[in-house]
Amino acid sequence: MERRSFLKAAAAGTAIIGSAGKLFAAEQYFPSKVDPALFENINRVKDPARKTPLEKSHAPVITAPEKVTAGEPFIVEISVGEVLHGMGPAHWIEYIELNIGNEPAARADFQPKGYASPKTSFLVTLHQDAAPSGKVTLVARQRCNLHGYWETSRDLTVA
Ligand SMILES: [Fe+2]
Repeated sequence: MERRSFLKAAAAGTAIIGSAGKLFAAEQYFPSKVDPALFENINRVKDPARKTPLEKSHAPVITAPEKVTAGEPFIVEISVGEVLHGMGPAHWIEYIELNIGNEPAARADFQPKGYASPKTSFLVTLHQDAAPSGKVTLVARQRCNLHGYWETSRDLTVA
């Protein structure tokens, strides 16, 4: 093989391998067809009076007392969706997080086998310094592997 032919063949081979590598990497990163727009921002319910089916099944639902006493533990329950989101190997909730305002407080991770449903409870104790104004915001977040990041927040009074 002449040197020129060898170099042409080597360049063509490198281009094919490079393209296949990019294609393979893209398929690994998005193994299922998804709407990329759902992964660009944190999704929230736009109109609580008219939730879409996607919002109903993905926005976290926070169950907690309206008013708590500083220093006394209480339970915050978070479920994904008004009707629990399904869990299976192709479509599942990866985690649920609880923040107290901007502070991370707790996180529960889920596996795609479907053993656990996307609902969890955290025992939370707020001290007065966490709520100098007497109010705190609970922020629940979750991530669905096909439908992105979702957030719901709710204010509590701390006495
Ligand atoms: Fe989903």
